[in-house]
Amino acid sequence: MLSKPAFQAVTRLFRQVSGIQLADTKQALVAGRLHKLALARGMADVDAYVEALLREGDAQELVKVVDKLTTNETYFFREPQHFDHLRRVLAQRRTGPHLGDFRVWSAASSSGEEGYSIAMVLAEHFGLQGWQVVGTDLSTAMVDTARRGLYPIERARLVPLPLLKHWCLKGQGEHLGKLMVSSALRQRVRFDCANLTRTLPEIGQFDIIFLRNLLIYFDNAGKADIVQRVLKRLKPTGLLFTGHAESITHLGVPATLVAPAIYRGAHAQAPHATPAESA
Ligand SMILES: C[S@@+](CC[C@H](N)C(=O)[O-])C[C@H]1O[C@@H](n2cnc3c(N)ncnc32)[C@H](O)[C@@H]1O
Repeated sequence: MLSKPAFQAVTRLFRQVSGIQLADTKQALVAGRLHKLALARGMADVDAYVEALLREGDAQELVKVVDKLTTNETYFFREPQHFDHLRRVLAQRRTGPHLGDFRVWSAASSSGEEGYSIAMVLAEHFGLQGWQVVGTDLSTAMVDTARRGLYPIERARLVPLPLLKHWCLKGQGEHLGKLMVSSALRQRVRFDCANLTRTLPEIGQFDIIFLRNLLIYFDNAGKADIVQRVLKRLKPTGLLFTGHAESITHLGVPATLVAPAIYRGAHAQAPHATPAESA
């Protein structure tokens, strides 16, 4: 069982790490998820587990708690309009060696399907050179899954058939019902841990940033903080994609809506922009 004080203590700790405030209605869900971790440590009581977590300050155990409490739902070619827009951007792009690689960041990449979907579209346009995809997520378990590139086949129902045939292998034997992203594509996509509420790692500047289905978990101040930090990683002509249920127009951030859930960064020419904390 998970008492109210233990629930409040563990959600406070989770908020300190992730920036996400879990609603009081999530008590049963948190209890269920932590129950598995408690059992793995030989404890039947979730309250005792939370008490030990707070007392011991074990960083590895805290990583497991964060992995359990994040919502990781994702699938290939989710919100397909963004991938159509990406194709249009690529079709209109000027070429030349001075332009460098076309770089896309899947921020909050979860188990990696978003990053690999982007990679399939880039490979369709460029082949295997001239682009980079970086995926980052708070959850170490999700980053591990993303690096593996092995998925239940249902998550690929929106993958266009030619791309599915070209870049995915059908699982056999113990992997029946699964697909594996081809090693050629896996090698072109890098996944790392990064917390978007903290100083970001040195991952460079991007032509497009996918920041989708994460902001919904934050209040307005939290959203603005993340968006401002992420916008600093956009190249001057770059675009930010958010989830279609995640408007950022009311946050006072230096970005202009150019299409549904697509923004152009305006930090260089936005006199009204609030100065952002340095990333
Ligand atoms: C619902 S998934 C979104 C996945 C993908 N972007 C999509 O739209 O399908 C949200 C992800 O955000 C990650 N996340 C939560 N808090 C985070 C933080 N502070 N920094 C980075 N990632 C975070 C979670 O681990 C989870 O994998």
